[in-house]
Amino acid sequence: MLFIPKMIYQTQPLTIFIHIRRLIALLTFPFIMGCGGPDLSAFDLAKGKQVYNNTCIACHLKGMSSVAPKVGNESDWTARIAQGMDTLLSHSFNGFNEMPPKGGNADLSDEEVKNAVAFMVSKSY
Ligand code: HEC
Repeated sequence: MLFIPKMIYQTQPLTIFIHIRRLIALLTFPFIMGCGGPDLSAFDLAKGKQVYNNTCIACHLKGMSSVAPKVGNESDWTARIAQGMDTLLSHSFNGFNEMPPKGGNADLSDEEVKNAVAFMVSKSY
């Protein structure tokens, strides 16, 4: 009987917070996105893949140690995708914490960045 309270007592508050956040994201995600994920029909995923391979892969490749969300790793993306494409795109154009604007490649057009984000999202839910 003492086992469960002891475990909760010994768990760091931050860990509990992260678990609760993940739980909320997982529970609300299907309602926000529907079961098939976001609608990406407006984007050119093939072109996005090229941009990803040239620029974004430097930080977003699975297995890298950077804090960037890894393409293909669903749990990295669930809560991010739930923010909606508009937020993801605005963070990608303008930068977001350690994510540099346009992934640090100012030569990319808005269109190219949009397609790259859509490609990354399409591989990550
Ligand atoms: C120098 C490393 C780096 C490069 C290159 C990079 N990113 Fe990121 N990116 C990050 C980091 C770090 C984060 C996480 C930021 C955070 O959540 O604090 C991130 C987050 C993101 C997110 C999620 C934003 C959100 O709202 O959660 C998207 C979308 C994204 N990057 C798209 C791109 C695209 C598209 C490219 C290529 C054009 C790119 N990134 C290139 C480091 C990078």
